[in-house]
Amino acid sequence: MEMRHKVETHIGKKMTMHVLHVVGARPNFMKAAPLIHALQEKSQVRQTLVHTGQHYDANMSDVFFEQLAMPKPDVNLGVGSGSHARQTAEIMSRIEGVMTECRPDMVLVYGDVNSTVAAALVCSKLMIRVCHVEAGLRSFDRSMPEEINRIVTDRLADLLFTPSEDGDLNLKSEGVAAEKVHLVGNVMIDSLIRLLPAALAIPRNGFPEEYALVTLHRPSNVDDGATLLKLIESLVAIDNQLNIVFPVHPRTRQRMSGVEADLKRLHLLEPMPYIEFLALQRRAKVVITDSGGIQEETTYLGVPCLTLRENTERPITVEMGTNVLVGQDPNRLCAEVTRILNGNGKAGGIPPLWDGHAAERIASVLCSSSV
Ligand code: UD1
Repeated sequence: MEMRHKVETHIGKKMTMHVLHVVGARPNFMKAAPLIHALQEKSQVRQTLVHTGQHYDANMSDVFFEQLAMPKPDVNLGVGSGSHARQTAEIMSRIEGVMTECRPDMVLVYGDVNSTVAAALVCSKLMIRVCHVEAGLRSFDRSMPEEINRIVTDRLADLLFTPSEDGDLNLKSEGVAAEKVHLVGNVMIDSLIRLLPAALAIPRNGFPEEYALVTLHRPSNVDDGATLLKLIESLVAIDNQLNIVFPVHPRTRQRMSGVEADLKRLHLLEPMPYIEFLALQRRAKVVITDSGGIQEETTYLGVPCLTLRENTERPITVEMGTNVLVGQDPNRLCAEVTRILNGNGKAGGIPPLWDGHAAERIASVLCSSSV
């Protein structure tokens, strides 16, 4: 475990309330950054940042810290990859010592990754208050590891911050006390709004004028060779009409090495930094993805999104936004791409409170809640 500096040195200065953030995987970073910044404005707060090391490649982690202007983690647990049980257990056993040494007043956990649920479990047993940012989302599909992480984290959390009203309704139906739940909006969109001008200033760098941007990493799409082959073959077919630009997640890269398809046809890239990826999304004709966060970002940007899943924990992106669920059906995917190319893509609006100020609202709740 790497301790950059001893945990007594913190992001903030003079203070009375100690907030510890736990991040671990790529989608955590853009959610934590705006909250760290909002809490830096509160003189009574000191902050500690713990990185579990779930994502460890420079292009999955370090570059996000730089672009999002996040402080260096005070502690890096360096857990790395492993099976779900092993990774979660490793995070739990390594983070317990940090928590007992730091005894923060509250711990903020983000989203639905293994680092989120591991930290929530440890803290709740140490009687440290757990605050879950991006609470209440449900796909109602327990074959997704993230759904298990969401349910358990929300069960344990003392304060739950939801991005949209469906989250409040889900928590209510699960019996979570209303006073613990705060509808604050979408912190991921805070980061997007702050960095969109930087993204728009990036030159096109030789990318085609019109293209479909693709991301793919869900176990249900990439872990089974036959499913992955079918999806890649449909992308190759789409490439006849529209260039495919595809930054490849490390998990998918490993799985693709065994797939016999005409991969050379596609523009395969390494995982992209946040700002460059935002520029690619904003300029795409259509985004084809199985990511959760990208469904939200495309809705905010008004870019058509085709989601390669049967369900979503973010239904507001379908109800209000530009998102269409196409599952794993190649015909459906190709038909939707054609529809978009014909100018009939789904138009959408921006959900309430996705306004760049969600983190400020969370910071206000935290500072007014009793420690
Ligand atoms: C995790 C999250 C998922 C999130 C995704 C975003 C869980 C359960 N899943 O999935 O919700 O959408 O991150 O990226 O927490 N790897 C590297 N370098 C890295 C990180 C991972 O090579 O920096 C490889 C490892 O071989 C690893 C595989 O990618 O086995 C998967 O990584 P892991 O963190 O286990 O899950 P993700 O699929 O990234």
